[in-house]
Amino acid sequence: MSRIVKIAPSILSADFVRLAEEIKAAEDAGVDILHLDIMDGHFVPNITIGPAVVEAIRKITNLPLGGHLMICEPDKFLKDFISAGADFLTVHVEAAIHLHRTIHYIKEREIKAGISLNPATPLWTLDNILNDVDLVLIMSVNPGFGGQVFITSMLEKIKTLRKLIDFKGYNAMIEVDGGVKLDNAQSIAKAGVDILVIGSAFFGSGNYREFMKQLRENLSS
Ligand code: DX5
Ligand code: ZN
Repeated sequence: MSRIVKIAPSILSADFVRLAEEIKAAEDAGVDILHLDIMDGHFVPNITIGPAVVEAIRKITNLPLGGHLMICEPDKFLKDFISAGADFLTVHVEAAIHLHRTIHYIKEREIKAGISLNPATPLWTLDNILNDVDLVLIMSVNPGFGGQVFITSMLEKIKTLRKLIDFKGYNAMIEVDGGVKLDNAQSIAKAGVDILVIGSAFFGSGNYREFMKQLRENLSS
């Protein structure tokens, strides 16, 4: 079955000095979602942005904002990111001790709730929560940095998850994050993906419109 894949540029690779212009240019290029990588220097070896920056971004775009929380103790910060205007919040299964509570806290605030899995985290960790989530984010690199190489064994993981979601009749979307480029996007999408996160390849392309045109062509070929 061919599905329409949404494209979510990760602003991690944007020029932060010109962030508003970068976001406007991404919007003009026809992207679907903005992917916001939130890192705390504990869960991952890097630090990025917090709620204040998310709030500032919210003011300059109508694009849906997907917050990818790569932070320990995510419960402490959910309220702030929701107030800041995130439309999706994804927590890592490795970081959320009371995952069911966390997911339902997010959903009760009427935004979409997702779970992310590191590359080495097995799919069975989703067994008792998959039907509750709007989104599963499969990390296809080890989180922390943009510009890494797609871990090819993640293709099987994505295919297995797709089969599981379809077999059970669940609604969860599948998002893939890390190492997605023009030349591998189609094979990754075909594994059954709903949202492709693209960081360095998008913002490093120099011409976002041209990049999106090429990407859409590659995805439909
Ligand atoms: C990595 C982040 C990704 C990253 C993707 O921890 O979660 O969203 O920005 O960047 P690329 O597309 O360059 O791998
Ligand atoms: Zn991410």
